[in-house]
Amino acid sequence: MDNLLRYARVLLVSACFMTTQGFASGDGAQLAAADIDPDNVNSLQRGAANFMNYCSGCHSARYVRYNTIGRDLDLSEEMLVDNLMFNAEKTFETIQVSMPPAAAARWFGKAPPDLSLMARAKGADYVYNFLKGFYVDEESPTGVDNLVLPGTSMPHVLWELQGYQAAHFVKHENKDGSVTTTFEGFEQLTAGKMDSEDYDEFVRDTVNFLAYIAEPVRGFRVDLGKWVIIYLIFFLLIARMLKKQIWKDVK
Ligand code: HEC
Repeated sequence: MDNLLRYARVLLVSACFMTTQGFASGDGAQLAAADIDPDNVNSLQRGAANFMNYCSGCHSARYVRYNTIGRDLDLSEEMLVDNLMFNAEKTFETIQVSMPPAAAARWFGKAPPDLSLMARAKGADYVYNFLKGFYVDEESPTGVDNLVLPGTSMPHVLWELQGYQAAHFVKHENKDGSVTTTFEGFEQLTAGKMDSEDYDEFVRDTVNFLAYIAEPVRGFRVDLGKWVIIYLIFFLLIARMLKKQIWKDVK
């Protein structure tokens, strides 16, 4: 019985590992939770539209095909073609960027990275806070800086929706003379088309979509994982019974 309990524990622990996602995050900056729901298909659909409308001009997502998105997000081919495929002809194409990377590098100083795996590489929370973290900085060439990626060359492309905000920092002098700067909060300077709740929702949907394209097979993996665990438990019982049967005469 003891052994059985131990096996069960091992199985449970492995199950936990199977369902945890990559929790990579940026540096030590305090990140608010993105709170995305990968099972919410409506949110993913809105996120896909947001991505195509506001990001795909600069960013590609080279590892994901339109027809995969269509299948996973319950979109008909017609909806795909009409609503998402602005710069593609065939549904098996991947999401290419409209802007040539060399020109982009010249304009921005840095080519916008491919976003297929970004949410996995940096974490959903990071991308969420990045998109909410633009604040006015007169000295920056883009007019804004970013709380989680200071000195970024990405402009505040969502300014129309969010409006502009200022960031307040407070400097503390430490005993040893060094200075630490802490972030105190944002202050809304100009209103955008959305209030802050709607903007959060917009960003959450977009990040949800980015997390989905970083691992389109997630749904399948999680479903399959459950069956694998059930199978393993079942097999464990069979194996125990077999062992008892085979060894019953050996004392
Ligand atoms: C006008 C062009 C442009 C648009 C539109 C744009 N970006 Fe960017 N983005 C950039 C550039 C340039 C960089 C590289 C910034 C850097 O590394 O400093 C970047 C970098 C990023 C990064 C990586 C940040 C990091 O830590 O390296 C993320 C995430 C990102 N963009 C998300 C988005 C999302 C989501 C959208 C759509 C809402 C979007 N971008 C729209 C130009 C753009």
